[in-house]
Amino acid sequence: MKIYNKYILPRFLDREMGSADFNQTRKAIAEQAKGTVLEIGFGSGYNIPFYNNVRKLFALEPSGELYAYAKNRIKSASFPVEYVSASAEEIPLPTASVDTVVSTWTLCSIPDLKRSLREVIRVLKPEGEFVFVEHGRSPKRLNSLAQSILTPISKHFTGNCHLDRQIDTYIREAGFDIQELIAMPEAGRPLMFSYRGVARKRVADIHKAMGVLIRDRKLLVTRSKDKIHFIGPGGKLEAGETAQEALIRELHEELQITVKTEDLEVFGSFSAAAAGNKSRIVTAQVFTVARWEGEIIPGNEIEEIRWIASEDAKSMTLGSIFADDVIPRLKEHDLID
Ligand SMILES: C[S@@+](CC[C@H](N)C(=O)[O-])C[C@H]1O[C@@H](n2cnc3c(N)ncnc32)[C@H](O)[C@@H]1O
Repeated sequence: MKIYNKYILPRFLDREMGSADFNQTRKAIAEQAKGTVLEIGFGSGYNIPFYNNVRKLFALEPSGELYAYAKNRIKSASFPVEYVSASAEEIPLPTASVDTVVSTWTLCSIPDLKRSLREVIRVLKPEGEFVFVEHGRSPKRLNSLAQSILTPISKHFTGNCHLDRQIDTYIREAGFDIQELIAMPEAGRPLMFSYRGVARKRVADIHKAMGVLIRDRKLLVTRSKDKIHFIGPGGKLEAGETAQEALIRELHEELQITVKTEDLEVFGSFSAAAAGNKSRIVTAQVFTVARWEGEIIPGNEIEEIRWIASEDAKSMTLGSIFADDVIPRLKEHDLID
């Protein structure tokens, strides 16, 4: 399979995606991209000739072999193209730095789509747009059933392409509002149902500060009274408070420990749909807490605390920011077991 994915699949994708049938759609998508643009799953660069309002293009593509096919198209571009050799699950670009993210027939193949879409949200500027054309689940029962039956087999030969992803739901649940959506069957291809549109990130209306406390390579999570899920210690910012001030206050209230500002280091800022109300967005500024004073004693509002390794997280109900963003990153950086 390794040889197939390295040598045969890139050639296959380059040929398939080069079909002139796609050009009209590519043009319509690329014309909506402006300013600093990130294309995820750049492939062999077939959108390049259609960009006309781009200042700089970040071409994110995990397959170097596929990207090699893009060389000539990149040479002919009238704007700088920077290769980003990475996966969309971890985009090495700063938060709020991109005007438009483009995805053409890529979301079907990304292994961890939820995480990637949250990364897209992170790198987009507040007014930025996500412009996409994808294929996904058909609303017709029989076609959808066929998609679900075929995908587990076909994805092994098609670079992990899933026929059955409900693309619009994934995009909304990641925290986007879809501004325009055309969802329609592809002519003559019953297993391909097309989703084309523009999405903007929903404006965060809940701002939180959260802390990462690690002891013996285990992470502290807490569960409040009457709640079923565990989250990191912390809470909502009160009027006029900075995230650091809110976290220091919350750590004192929730765990009865004292933390100084200089003990907090920025870990990242993450957004997700609020648990229990997907139309609201929570943005959490997360800080690692290098040291604290006092013994950790749960305050009145805390029912339970646990020190967990990344494996434990799989069998627990956790808030999505800790489950999907914080814990995987801590594990990748070898900070917890
Ligand atoms: C069907 S091809 C589409 C290529 C290109 N977007 C186009 O329009 O021609 C799917 C693309 O998704 C890319 N891909 C797969 N997994 C990915 C990931 N985790 N992050 C970013 N791109 C990924 C593949 O390498 C490939 O370039």
